[in-house]
Amino acid sequence: MIKNRKVGIIGAGAVGASAAFSLAIMGTCREIVLFDIAEGVAQGKAIDIAQATHYSTKPTLITAAQSPADVKECDIVVITAGVPRKGDMTREDLLMINAKIIKSVTEDIMKYSPNAIILSVSNPLDVMTYTIAQITGWERNRIIGMAGALDGSRMAYQIRKKLGFGAARVGALVIGDHGENMIPLPQKANVGDVPLPDLLSKEDMEEIINRTKNGGAEIVGHLKTSGYYGPGRAIAFMVEAILNDSKAVVSSSVLLSGEYGHSDVCVGVPVVLGSNGVEAIVEMNLDDDLKKKFDTSVKTVKNGIDILKNNNFFN
Ligand code: APR
Repeated sequence: MIKNRKVGIIGAGAVGASAAFSLAIMGTCREIVLFDIAEGVAQGKAIDIAQATHYSTKPTLITAAQSPADVKECDIVVITAGVPRKGDMTREDLLMINAKIIKSVTEDIMKYSPNAIILSVSNPLDVMTYTIAQITGWERNRIIGMAGALDGSRMAYQIRKKLGFGAARVGALVIGDHGENMIPLPQKANVGDVPLPDLLSKEDMEEIINRTKNGGAEIVGHLKTSGYYGPGRAIAFMVEAILNDSKAVVSSSVLLSGEYGHSDVCVGVPVVLGSNGVEAIVEMNLDDDLKKKFDTSVKTVKNGIDILKNNNFFN
């Protein structure tokens, strides 16, 4: 249950700070505490964001934690800590490095915010969410991966660009893994309550699927680093849904237990977000083609999980 409207953000890099800024502008939280392992990062950003709140309509206390122990009694802890893939690192190297970071961060959360809901953001998203679920052993409603909220916003952007209208009224759902086998569902989207298939051709929708999948890479192509405003805003939206008990339906990576025919894996599916975290998993009817795509997506995530298992990570 939500007590203090206090949110911890572990990893005050580009994404963590953007989430904090977005939350501070909206005045969603009573308190936000930032922590980063790199000296000065959380402190500097906390001061900057705190000063920005002067123009917010609702106050938010923004602080920097000196140590993980200061991220305490949070209702929600967002994990954006991790390292990006560098030079000669294989995907497997990156997976092991980030899993170790996530493990130590998660153990601190269990100690200092034992009742929190954890919002997992670090990549590879679905495998890291699974890692958190395994390490905590908490009820699955308290471990939520942020991916579909971002990928959905990226698909909505592509739909708006294609149509030239529909701002803020585009429903856009993306399920599956947060990677190359994600499944954007324009055929199930609508614009101001009008079904998208009534507005766009099959070819247009195919293009939207490809552009959505390529949404992150497109930004990297321009910036040479991944996006952060979109992820930050998506995190803030999910935090708001939980703190305000809004029961919003948002695609999120959660531990499946038979839903969609899969178990022991975290992957993106539509869920109801409220003050208990994931309050329900929404099961849609998927036709045979989509079922196949979903199974492939699950397989990719399981391959990542197997790397951790084969390295005895969970023993
Ligand atoms: N504890 C706290 N902070 C840590 C730790 C740790 N153990 N290890 C790394 N960090 C911090 C880094 O110091 C850095 O400031 O995590 C931050 C990550 O920030 P960026 O490198 O700017 O990365 P960002 O773009 O914010 O992405 C963060 O979110 O979307 C995902 O793929 C992305 O996994 C990545 C994460």
